[in-house]
Amino acid sequence: MDLLHKFLNIVLLPITLTVLLLFMLPFLFLKFLWSLKRSIYREYVAGKVILITGASSGIGEYVAYEYAKRGARLALVARREDCLRAVADRARKLGSPDVVVVRADVSKVEECKQFVDEIVNYFGRLDHLVNNAGVVQVRLFEEFTQFSDIASVMDINFWGSVYSTHCAVPHLRKSKGKIVVIASTAAWLGTPRLSFYNASKAALISFFETLRTEFGQDIGITIVTPGMVESEMTQGELFSEVEANWIPTETTEGCAKAILDSTCSGDMYLTEPSWMKAGFWVKTFCPEASKAALISFFETLRTEFGQDIGITIVNPRVIESEMTQGDYLSEIQADWFPTETTEGCAKAILDSACNGDTYLTEPSWMKAGFWVKTLCPEVFERCLHSLLVSRPRSSKKD
Ligand SMILES: NC(=O)c1ccc[n+]([C@@H]2O[C@H](COP(=O)([O-])OP(=O)(O)OC[C@H]3O[C@@H](n4cnc5c(N)ncnc54)[C@H](OP(=O)(O)O)[C@@H]3O)[C@@H](O)[C@H]2O)c1
Repeated sequence: MDLLHKFLNIVLLPITLTVLLLFMLPFLFLKFLWSLKRSIYREYVAGKVILITGASSGIGEYVAYEYAKRGARLALVARREDCLRAVADRARKLGSPDVVVVRADVSKVEECKQFVDEIVNYFGRLDHLVNNAGVVQVRLFEEFTQFSDIASVMDINFWGSVYSTHCAVPHLRKSKGKIVVIASTAAWLGTPRLSFYNASKAALISFFETLRTEFGQDIGITIVTPGMVESEMTQGELFSEVEANWIPTETTEGCAKAILDSTCSGDMYLTEPSWMKAGFWVKTFCPEASKAALISFFETLRTEFGQDIGITIVNPRVIESEMTQGDYLSEIQADWFPTETTEGCAKAILDSACNGDTYLTEPSWMKAGFWVKTLCPEVFERCLHSLLVSRPRSSKKD
């Protein structure tokens, strides 16, 4: 097996990059034609039922107005009921035929179940779920003294979306509906003082990318990464501590319109404003980036610590261990995957840490997957869905 890994380490990455280079232009052209077709035949939301969490202010509020202008029926969820009622009144005036408000805390699983049931009982269906509710905590990692202060960030930003989605999925499957996820460019920019916020948003991206490979074509998922948008979050005193007030902010209205256009066109990703994507590409090419929570968290710490503490982020793939020798690989239908020896992986980790590397992917040929996913996410996710979800499940007895 080690020989196979050595061979793949040498040939797979150059072959993948060459193929990507050769096919990138025709692929981008096809992608452009496809996006043109989708924007011409975009979804009409008049009469459809839209659930928006965190609709009492900011982006959620303006997304509600944008859906209202297009004639959608709305269910607005947040904790401040008086603000929700004001948003509902304005949404009705803008053209929504029916608006309900539900006071709920998305970080409580039973409240999520309750509001999804209530909304589906009232409207009889659900077409879009907009996971928008979120909070921010601004402080350098070393200044945190109580972890209980931070738990709410993960509870609301990550778990709030997970709970709402879990309750909504059966109804979205019936309507062949959509999920909109409001993540953040902070997930890949690693802005200092936002370590837990960045990690929560990176976790969201990774989680919903995985759901996309599980759902296939049944439920569309648009992952939105806004940059700096006018809202209570960015206008408050708290945010001024991030020292990012030199970044130009976008209007909430402009951001909400872009979110709706993108969702109705069935886009996989939206970065708003789109020039912020430049940051993603710089980060991806120098150095290699990923978006998982732990990685985003330690990337943020690296920007906070500077040269004082070195951090090597290791991405091992399928390594021989109790985890991979159990039922795990067959459960995820990946038992055909070549595993690397634990010894080889441990040696590579030590070499890399002693060299002061910022990243290590082990075995290194797995980087080929990273590049395919980054440059052609449509192809990558389709392949994963076909290989690991649609394929008939192999049983151990077979
Ligand atoms: N503004 C930006 O520049 C920016 C950039 C990137 C990403 N984002 C993301 O965009 C989303 C909206 O933020 P925003 O900028 O519009 O800020 P905002 O005006 O503060 O809105 C946050 C919304 O989330 C709701 N919320 C917070 N905790 C909740 C809970 N436990 N249960 C239910 N609702 C809850 C708030 O309502 P209640 O307080 O009434 O519950 C409010 O409606 C967030 O996920 C944020 O991370 C914003």
